[in-house]
Amino acid sequence: MTIRIKEILENGKVGELISASGWIRTRRDSKTVTFIELNDGSCFKNLQVTLDASNHSEILSALGTGTSVTVMGNLVQSPAAGQAVELAGDTVKIIGSVESDYPLQKKRHSFEFLREIAHLRPRANTFGAVFRMRNILSFAVHEFFQSRGYVYLNSPIITTSDCEGAGEMFRVSCFDPEKIPRNDKNEIDWSRDFFGKAASLTVSGQLEAEIFATSLGNCYTFGPTFRAENSNTSRHLAEFWMIEPEIAFADLKEDMNVAEDFVRYLFKAALSRGGDDLDFFDDRIEKGLKANLERLADAPFERITYTDAMTELEKHADSFEFKPSWGIDLQSEHERFITEKIFNGPVFVTDYPKDIKAFYMRLNEDEKTVAAMDLLMPRVGEIIGGSQREERYNVLVDKIKTMGLNIEDYWWYLDLRKYGTIPHAGFGLGFERMVQFVTGMSNIRDVIPFPRAPKLADF
Ligand code: 4AD
Repeated sequence: MTIRIKEILENGKVGELISASGWIRTRRDSKTVTFIELNDGSCFKNLQVTLDASNHSEILSALGTGTSVTVMGNLVQSPAAGQAVELAGDTVKIIGSVESDYPLQKKRHSFEFLREIAHLRPRANTFGAVFRMRNILSFAVHEFFQSRGYVYLNSPIITTSDCEGAGEMFRVSCFDPEKIPRNDKNEIDWSRDFFGKAASLTVSGQLEAEIFATSLGNCYTFGPTFRAENSNTSRHLAEFWMIEPEIAFADLKEDMNVAEDFVRYLFKAALSRGGDDLDFFDDRIEKGLKANLERLADAPFERITYTDAMTELEKHADSFEFKPSWGIDLQSEHERFITEKIFNGPVFVTDYPKDIKAFYMRLNEDEKTVAAMDLLMPRVGEIIGGSQREERYNVLVDKIKTMGLNIEDYWWYLDLRKYGTIPHAGFGLGFERMVQFVTGMSNIRDVIPFPRAPKLADF
């Protein structure tokens, strides 16, 4: 049976007869021996395979980078540094040969180039490491919430409500684009579409999570989320994954406490399970990454109100293109200043002006701000957005109306406030931004297997 290379490198014993399968990363030849670096994706390290050149002369020329092979032989003590054993190959079977135009050569390729070959890039060192780290973090997300008794909710992907009210939704329709039906007023007649009304891909599972939080108690979603914002930045995707816990009988402070514990848990999971992949990020992608994660995994996160943050920013008004003043939404230059220059670490900014935040956030006593929080991180900026929810029926109705939203669309959301309402709070963590932070990768398109962004939906 083929044993995975991770297992071989961790537990293989000298003298064992084994079979290993994978793709050849590199190959070099001395007069009598051919050295192959074999990788099967199970870990960062390669298994070194030696082949006696005279015994394999007929196939040696076919063993190029990218070729898939199965090698049988005995494990021997490795004279090379960093590995206890290597495989002295007796027989080599070529599983799949490689055409000469294989795009992944031994040299370093730019991340931009690798994005164009997203079907092959997981075979490159960096991307193997990124996607293994993504896997570690995904599992840790479930672990964190499951161990605290939260219920995992699969919120719908197709929806007819716009949670964020920002109108950045992808339409889901079965209309023939050449023959879109219209009513007497010449408006599109969505009643004749598949769902009988206008439907879209979800921008957030929060409203559905609130249904569960007000019935099953604490719950969380972890699913794909879609935003048709035309932002060609290194922090935005059109399809990203979001984790949205919703906490019953909780206020904003408890919401932040959960968020902080959660983020730290993910840092600790990365540190304790990241192994060679994390060492690679630390060494080659962002120097000091591990030390930074270690520091943040134990230190409490700072908290500052929007109003105080604005006062600080105004003192440095000359540093910004977009001038800070109370009432504006924080721009990424402001977010970075707060987290990188003022605090040099994660910061919760709380209690934003009500006019720049979504309708569902709870109105504070000052009636000017809402019980909102964003967690800002150095380098990636906003990683979490959350709030205490408005649980008072009348206040919520007023809010929906003043924001110009259609009250009928929210009938079920309002019902939750009519029948046994409770204080509750939640947040959304952008999973890719977390993967970016933990790997040091600078572009969000390099931490999701197949990025979707403006003009980009290949593979
Ligand atoms: O701040 P946002 O819009 O919050 C919500 O959607 C709330 N309904 C969450 C909740 O309270 N349950 O988004 C939350 C996070 C952001 O902080 C960011 O990390 C990520 O989602 N995010 C994106 N990530 C990648 N690409 C995009 N286009 C993103 N938009 C938001």
